[in-house]
Amino acid sequence: MTQKITITTLKQMKSTGEKIACLTSYDASFAKLQDETGVDVLLVGDSLGMVLHGDETTLNVTMTDMIYHTGLVSKVCQRAFVISDMPYESYTSAMQALENAKRLFNEANADMVKLEGGAEISEAVSMITEAGIPVCGHLGLMPQSIHELGGYRVQAKTEAEAKKLKQDALSLQASGADCLVLECVPAKVATEVSDMLDIPVIGIGAGVDCDGQVLVVYDMLGLSDKEFKFSKNFLSGKGSIADALKDYVTAVKDNSFPSASHSYE
Ligand code: KIV
Repeated sequence: MTQKITITTLKQMKSTGEKIACLTSYDASFAKLQDETGVDVLLVGDSLGMVLHGDETTLNVTMTDMIYHTGLVSKVCQRAFVISDMPYESYTSAMQALENAKRLFNEANADMVKLEGGAEISEAVSMITEAGIPVCGHLGLMPQSIHELGGYRVQAKTEAEAKKLKQDALSLQASGADCLVLECVPAKVATEVSDMLDIPVIGIGAGVDCDGQVLVVYDMLGLSDKEFKFSKNFLSGKGSIADALKDYVTAVKDNSFPSASHSYE
């Protein structure tokens, strides 16, 4: 019988230094293969708006989309921990956040929900976690704020921005978040945040020292038309998608991915 990964497992992995291998997942076929090839965490990301729907941003993704795709992924997972993104405008108040988190938890069997934002969402994070639903924060490049951020670019480059990000990370942890995704920040900032927090930090474009790594599965299989500095095509030179997934898990666990060349200064 395969042992299901829990928050306790993820926290143990942080404390023992075993890296957490995470990938996005949107459907049952991929999720089954990812689960069988040892991917620890499957993130049903609202990136589905871009990679499945072909939109320029994640902003049109709805709760109906997230419930549907999270349900497909969670029903086939025996081992992997499933995180589901709360889409844009699904947590504009703490009460709305709680109602929608409950839907992802109860209707779609998510193990955890992910929200973008820092101190400004602390009330929502507290209400959700107090209701017994685990929360993952998301800081750095937050795609739901893309218009406010002025484009997809590296965040927290100045000292003031890095300080704010660290305060936000502490605020999320204090509000009960059990995990944090850090996207596109300088490696040094990500190292400091990972060292500072008790909860696991999963990075994407956030250097080599995070407690785990996540990539959009279509990017790491070379299906995207863009190439990202922080990503790598793991299918190149392999005979199958399963081999590419296994190689990704191995590379995250043995610290060979990401390398400095996938990181930002
Ligand atoms: O939606 C998503 O896929 C994400 C990852 C890029 C971290 O949030």
